[in-house]
Amino acid sequence: MRTSIRQQLIEALSGAGGEFLSGQTLAEIIGCSRTAIWKHIEELRKDGFVLEAVRNKGYRIVSTPEDITENDILFGLETDKFGRNIHYYESLGSTQKAAHQLAYDGAPEGTLVITEEQTSGRGRLGREWYSLSGKGIWMSLIVRPDLPPQQAPQFTLVTAVAIARAIEEITGITPEIKWPNDVLINGKKVVGILTELQAESDKISSLIIGIGMNANHEPNDFPPAVEQTATSLFIEKGEKIPRARLIQAFLKNFERYYSIYVTEGFRPIRILWESYAVSIGKRVKATTVTGVIAGRAIGITDEGVLRIEDDEGVIHNIYSADIQQ
Ligand code: BTN
Repeated sequence: MRTSIRQQLIEALSGAGGEFLSGQTLAEIIGCSRTAIWKHIEELRKDGFVLEAVRNKGYRIVSTPEDITENDILFGLETDKFGRNIHYYESLGSTQKAAHQLAYDGAPEGTLVITEEQTSGRGRLGREWYSLSGKGIWMSLIVRPDLPPQQAPQFTLVTAVAIARAIEEITGITPEIKWPNDVLINGKKVVGILTELQAESDKISSLIIGIGMNANHEPNDFPPAVEQTATSLFIEKGEKIPRARLIQAFLKNFERYYSIYVTEGFRPIRILWESYAVSIGKRVKATTVTGVIAGRAIGITDEGVLRIEDDEGVIHNIYSADIQQ
């Protein structure tokens, strides 16, 4: 079978080892016109390939939509600090664990640990986090805010808003946020956030924000335990997601909202968060360590705490719980 021009173009550029190939050379290798090359280059760009074009040199492949190595994330990254120091691994037990060690050893704020696959990924409440190779985004970000430890939970909400915005920018889909840390599309979980703290008595020393995004999973990629409740961006959008672009969009939005939070306080973030919130105004059941509270979720406080009004009109502040609707 004859390979398509597109496929031959990808192969030629990938095989050039990062060197430039002129339009003329590509046209000769593939046996088509230079106009056809140009047209396919534009299509590849639309599909998330990053291709550099330099006059008199030609084209060079910088990254494919599949890649999430350090260079793929750095090329086109619009942040000053977040994601500027990247530790990329093909496989790792947990990015959370590696980031804790790096933070302990003094890694700077903004350091990102990212891997293709986690062999012992962990979720909230001691649960396992299933981290399939090559399809998801499994990463942990080191943040060092000059704030007291009580403000740590707010960062889960800052992160959720940054993720929701990034998903909107890359896919055009507006997700919903379920307090405190789930990002949903059509009622199914697409992203989970795990915020962990290293603190001295009155000050955060570092926050390790772990993010698990189901990016390019197909329906049968999920294990039976979550196949009814989980989804991926690919399933919802019907198109492969350029993971490096999504990571860049998240880092850009995180840097922005973090700066708003530090300079203006949590209120603007709370308003944004509530605009994505799925539970507010609805009846929910919160399972906490001390018992179950049922009632109407009426909002979150400026500390990021969920407020539930029960049937007797009593308002409960929920700091940590599993929420069912
Ligand atoms: C949740 O339970 O919803 C939170 C899931 C957090 C998973 C991410 S994946 C990257 C980082 N490393 C881990 O081991 N967990 C977090």
